[in-house]
Amino acid sequence: MLHSDSAAPWWADAAVYQVYIRSFADGDGDGVGDLAGLRARIPYLAELGVDAIWINPWYPSPQADGGYDVADFRDIEPAYGTLAEADLLIAEAHAAGLRVILDIVPNHTSDQHAWFQAALAGDAAARARYLFRPGKGEHGELPPTNWKSVFGGPAWTRLVHPDGTPGEWYLHLFAPAQPDLDWENAEVRAEFEEILRFWFDRGVDGFRVDVAHGLVKDQSFADADGPMGLLRNDHTHPAWDNDGVHEIYRGWRRVADSYDPPRIFVAEAWVSGNERLARYLRPDELHTAFQFDFLGVPFSAAAMAPVVDSARDAVAVAGGTTTWVLSNHDVVRHVTRYARSQPEHYIDSAWDRRRWADEKADLDLGVRRARAATLFVLALPGTVYLYQGEELGLPEVEEIPDEARRDPVFQMSTDGDVGRDGCRIPLPWGGDGAASGFSPAGAHAAPWLPQPAGWERFSVTAQEDDPASVLSLYRAALRLRRTYLRGATDFAWVHRSDDVVAFRVGPVEVWTNTGGSPVPLPAGEVLLASAGGAPDGFLPGAATAWLHRS
Ligand code: GLC
Repeated sequence: MLHSDSAAPWWADAAVYQVYIRSFADGDGDGVGDLAGLRARIPYLAELGVDAIWINPWYPSPQADGGYDVADFRDIEPAYGTLAEADLLIAEAHAAGLRVILDIVPNHTSDQHAWFQAALAGDAAARARYLFRPGKGEHGELPPTNWKSVFGGPAWTRLVHPDGTPGEWYLHLFAPAQPDLDWENAEVRAEFEEILRFWFDRGVDGFRVDVAHGLVKDQSFADADGPMGLLRNDHTHPAWDNDGVHEIYRGWRRVADSYDPPRIFVAEAWVSGNERLARYLRPDELHTAFQFDFLGVPFSAAAMAPVVDSARDAVAVAGGTTTWVLSNHDVVRHVTRYARSQPEHYIDSAWDRRRWADEKADLDLGVRRARAATLFVLALPGTVYLYQGEELGLPEVEEIPDEARRDPVFQMSTDGDVGRDGCRIPLPWGGDGAASGFSPAGAHAAPWLPQPAGWERFSVTAQEDDPASVLSLYRAALRLRRTYLRGATDFAWVHRSDDVVAFRVGPVEVWTNTGGSPVPLPAGEVLLASAGGAPDGFLPGAATAWLHRS
C-alpha cells in the first residue's frame, strides 16, 4: 500500500532511497547493475522502511558521464533492461508501497542523441536546439566565452567540418559529450514536457531535476571567472541560476498537477544560499529541492545547527518543506568525510577529493560519526534522501587504479580531482553471488568498477542479523521515524552548545553529542541510540540518541 494521508502529501516526510542503478544489483551477470537486479531487491527496500526510490538515469547512454549523457529520453539503456521491465518495476514497487522517482536531465543531451547528430549533419532546426556560437579571434579560433566546464577544461568545443575545416563552437557545461540545450528554443521546452508525460503516463511518481539551475543562460554570454565546480556555483556566473529557469518549472508544475495523484519534483540546484534555493520552491514551481549544506558541514554541533535553521527559514518563506541529504553519487561518502579531522566551518567544496591525500582515514570513527549524523538528520522534519550503501556504512573507496576509473572528472579535471567513482562501487549483497553478491553466482564478468578486498564484510548478509550493525540502525530508525515522527512539524531546539545540540519533534527529543566526552541526558525512554558505552543517563561522544518524552 502506498502511504498517503490527507493532512500532508506523501513526499513531505518521505524517506527516499537513491538507486545508482549501475552499481545497485546485477541480475544477469554482466557486471553491471540492472532492472532485474533492482526488481529482485524491492523486498529489501520495503523492509528497510523507505517510502520511495529515486533511480539515477536509466536511459540509453554511451555512459560518458554515468548515464547523465542521455541518447534517448524515452527508452531504457539496453545494459539495464527494457521498457517492459521498467513498467514491471514501477508496478512492483508500487505494490510494495514504494513510490518511484526518475532522474530527468534537461540541461544537455548526449552527443549521440538524434538531435545532436542531426545538428552535426547540418540540420538547421536541430542546430538551433543547442548552443552553437562562432568563435572569437580573427579566424574564430578562440572560444566564444572563457567559461570553464564543471568537470575541468573549457566549456566550449569547436566543430570540425567533414572536409577538415574548423567550424563553430558548442557549449557543454559538463563533458564535451554532453552538449547543452538551448532553452530559449520552444521545441526544447515542448519536448521536455512531452518526456515528463511519457513517464508520468507509465505511473512514475516524480522526477529529480538534474542541474535544475543551469538550463537558462544569461543571453549576454559574457566572459565570467566565477566558480564552475559542481558544488561551487555562484549565481553571478551567467551560466547558473538565471531567473528565466522559473518559468520552465511553472510549466512543469502544470504538467505534474494535471495527474491524479499529482506528480512531484525534487531539484538539484547548487545555488548560492537558501534564499536562492527557496525560489525554486514557490508554490507553483518545484515541490522540493535538495538541501546540500550537510555535504559540506563538519561533524560539529556548532556547525550543524545553523544549517537546520537556515534551511528551515528559507523553506518557510516559500511555504515548502526541507529535503535533507548526507551523501549522493557526486560526493565523498559521509563515513569517509567524517573519518578525518573536521574543518572548522562549512567548506564550500565537496570535501573535495584532493585534500585527503596526507591524512589517514579512521574509518571506525567515521562510521561512529556517520551513525550519529544519520540519526540527527532522520529526525528532522522534511524529506530525507539516503544514498545506496550508506545503510551498510560503506566508506568511499579511495584506492582505485587509474585505469579502472570511469568518471569523466578523473580525465578532465585540471586540479587533481580523482573523480566520483569511489562512492559508486557496486554494492555488496553477500550470499553466494559473485563480487560480494553484487552479481549472481557464476557471473561471467567482473563488476564494472572494482570492489576492494574485504568488501564482503559490509554486505547485507553480514549485517542483517547483527543488532549492532549499521543496517540494523537504519532499519530501526526508519521504523521509529514512521511511528513517531511522520507528519510532525513542531520543531524546537532544546539545547545548543559547541558540542551538543538537541531538538524536539513531536514526542521525540533528539540529542547529538559531537564532542569526545559523555554528556548527561534528560530523563526519558531511549528509543534508539547510535552508540552505547556511556553510563546510564549519559550520551557518549560522537553519538545521537532519540528520547521519548511525553
Ligand atoms: C548532476 C549529476 C552529476 C552529473 C551532472 C551532469 O550534477 O548529479 O552526476 O555529472 O549533473 O549531468
